[in-house]
Amino acid sequence: MGVYDFDRVIDRRPFSACKYIGLDKSLIAMNVADMDFAVPPEITEAMHRRINCTNYGYTIMSDEDYQAVIDWSYKRHGSKILREELISTPGVLNTMRCSMYALTEPGDKVAVVLPLHTPSIRSAAMQGRIRCISWLKCDKNGDYTFDFEDLERHFQDGCKVLMLCSPHNPTGRVWRQNEMEKLAELLKKYNVFAISDEIHRDLIYPGHRHSVLADLPDMRERCITVFSGSKTFNLGGCHIGSAVIANAEVRSKVRDKLYEFGHECGRPPVFSLAAQTAAYQHGEAYLEELLVYLQKNIDLTMEYLADLPVKVRRPEASFLLWVDCRELDLNTAELNDLLSRAGIAADPGHYYDTDQIHNYTGKQHHFRLAVAMPRSILEKAMKNLRNILETYKK
Ligand SMILES: Cc1ncc(COP(=O)(O)O)c(C=O)c1O
Repeated sequence: MGVYDFDRVIDRRPFSACKYIGLDKSLIAMNVADMDFAVPPEITEAMHRRINCTNYGYTIMSDEDYQAVIDWSYKRHGSKILREELISTPGVLNTMRCSMYALTEPGDKVAVVLPLHTPSIRSAAMQGRIRCISWLKCDKNGDYTFDFEDLERHFQDGCKVLMLCSPHNPTGRVWRQNEMEKLAELLKKYNVFAISDEIHRDLIYPGHRHSVLADLPDMRERCITVFSGSKTFNLGGCHIGSAVIANAEVRSKVRDKLYEFGHECGRPPVFSLAAQTAAYQHGEAYLEELLVYLQKNIDLTMEYLADLPVKVRRPEASFLLWVDCRELDLNTAELNDLLSRAGIAADPGHYYDTDQIHNYTGKQHHFRLAVAMPRSILEKAMKNLRNILETYKK
C-alpha cells in the first residue's frame, strides 16, 4: 500500500453529494465527474488551521497563494505564468462563460467541439450567442480527433471564439502537440480567440503530455486558459480556480464580467483558498499515487468490459470512460434499465450531444463511467455490469 489510502470508503450521502441526488439508494454512482477519495491530509490540515483562526472575514489572495498556482503550473506542465496574467476565479464553467461574454456580443458565433459535457455545450449558446457545433471525427478503432475542415468552415463563417476542452471530456483524449499546432494555425488565420478549459490537465497518464494551447507560438495574446485543482484534488465543492490571460485588455474585460456576475477576482472563499494553496504546495506525491491508482481502476474496468458487446478506449487523461454501446442498439429507457439492473448510475451518451437532455428517448451510442472510487466498490459495479452485459451477447 502507498502513503494514501484510496481504498477507504467514505460515505458521501450524508453530505449531499450531487452524484446521489435523486438516485436509488442501491445504485453505485458513476455519473458525476468527481472522486470518492479523501484529499491529501495537507489540504485538510490547512483548512483546519484556517478554521482555528476563528475569524472568516473578507480575505484576499496573498503572494504565496498566487505563487503556489504559478509553481504548480510550471512544475507539472512547463507552463510559465506571469503573476499579473493570473486571476483567481470561482471555478471553471463560470469563468469559461464570463470569458465568452467578454469576447463576444449577443448574435456572435461561438464554436464548440462535440461530444462534450452538457454544461459546456450550454455555455456556447448563453446570453444570445449563436452556438456553432463541430463534431470530432471517430475512426473505426474509436480514436477521436478534430475535423479541421469542418472547424475551418465555422471559422470562415465568422465564429469569433472557440470554447475548447483540453484534455477532452468525455473521450479522454489528450490532444497531441501536432493537433494543437494545427488548431492554433487555424485560430490565427481566422483571428478566432480560444478559451481553453483545462480542468482535466493534471490527470495525465504516462505516455501522454498535455500541451497548453496558449504556450504555442503567437497564441498567448489570443487565448484564455482556465483550470483548477478541482478534478486533481477533488475540490469541486470549493468552487475555486484560475485563469491565465496574457492580453491585458481581454483580462480586464473578463474581470469586469466576473464582477458583473458577482465575483471579485482575488477574493476567494477562505477555506477554498486554504485548500487550493495546500494542494498546489503539497499535493504532488498524492497526485502521482492517485494516477497509479486510477490507472489500475481503468485496467480493471477495461478487463471487465472485454469481450462484451461494448467497446471502450483507454482514456489518456482523467477518470472517465466513454463506452461505445452501439452494438446493443438500445434507446434511452432500455439503456437506463440495463444500467439500473447492473446497480449503477452512469451518464447516457446523449448528454454529450445536446443541451436538451431531458426528453431524449432515441438510440444511445455511448455511456460514460466515472471510475474514481475505492476498488472494492468499482469491482462490485463492474462485476454486476459484466453479468448483465453477458446476457446481451449474441
Ligand atoms: C470539462 C469540464 N469543465 C468544467 C467542469 C466543471 O468545472 P467547475 O465545477 O469548476 O465549474 C467539468 C466538471 O465535470 C468538466 O468536466
